[in-house]
Amino acid sequence: MRDKLQEIKTAALESLAEAADLEQLEKLRVKYLGKKGELTQVLRGMGKLSPEERPVIGQLANEVRDIIEQELQSKREELEKTAQQKKLEQERIDVTMPGRRFTRGTRHPLYQVLDEIKHIFRGLGFAVAEGPEIELDYYNFEALNIPKDHPARDMQDSFYITEEVLLRTHTSPVQVRTMEKKRPELPIRIIAPGKVYRRDDDATHSPMFHQVEGLLVDERVTFGDLKGTLLTFARQMFGQEHKIRLRPSYFPFTEPSAEVDISCVNCGGSGCRVCSHTGWLEILGSGMVHPKVLEMAGYDPEKVSGFAFGMGVERIAMLKYGIDDLRLLFDNDLRFLQQF
Ligand code: PHE
Repeated sequence: MRDKLQEIKTAALESLAEAADLEQLEKLRVKYLGKKGELTQVLRGMGKLSPEERPVIGQLANEVRDIIEQELQSKREELEKTAQQKKLEQERIDVTMPGRRFTRGTRHPLYQVLDEIKHIFRGLGFAVAEGPEIELDYYNFEALNIPKDHPARDMQDSFYITEEVLLRTHTSPVQVRTMEKKRPELPIRIIAPGKVYRRDDDATHSPMFHQVEGLLVDERVTFGDLKGTLLTFARQMFGQEHKIRLRPSYFPFTEPSAEVDISCVNCGGSGCRVCSHTGWLEILGSGMVHPKVLEMAGYDPEKVSGFAFGMGVERIAMLKYGIDDLRLLFDNDLRFLQQF
């Protein structure tokens, strides 16, 4: 056994001296000192020795283990040092290189436009209201006079979570939520900006986009109030020289309804490619709040009236800045974004 221990010691020290890297070193540690290692095997056989021999061999075995451990340790330090050295030689740092500069971001053009819209309507006495993007079918459709099988639902195909819960397809549900919350208070005068979702995706439609809803409810609100408000908005947004035009349209939640056009931002109304030679560009949908909608929200349509409108923020931004592809707004390309 004595010989065996000597053998182990010599062999271990020899191979340790030759170890070229930390990985090899670890293999050697396992080979000699590990649970199934050679030294451990010898120690396991100690039970067979006579009581006199046992302490002697035990001591020797301990010595051998200590020596191997020490040698392992110093070899490890040596190898770590060389590894470090090598890394330092490879990694040349040029301390004269200029540092990396952090560039300051800018507000996204869409949100610049949204801020401007809010600013204009605040000036007209409107407060900003918000509603959930995950909405109940009731608020998104039913309470807006769009019952389950109404054909108007086809134009606003959405992403359903359950039959009764969906991603809102417009900001109009905030009209209803606000009226329910405020009733019987008057006047109600809010705009509701936010994200909306539709099953749509091409150069002019994105599955997620932004709208701003407007709602005014009071006694004796007229169509003239609607027109005046929207003209003021259009002129502050695009320039005082602009005109607006209201075309009859249809929305289940307004009656009468109107599509609102602004004189072309490109040609001023004489006709060009941007306005398809009509001189006009559509900017939003609007109308007088439908009596049924007022009634469902708890107001008496005999006593109060209101107007509502809804505009797409992407569309306003594209017209204002002359952006020709909607997708540019969502690509996050700095070369594009830095222009605003
Ligand atoms: N919610 C309508 C849409 O998304 C727009 C609208 C809002 C029309 C308010 C009239 C009144 O198309």
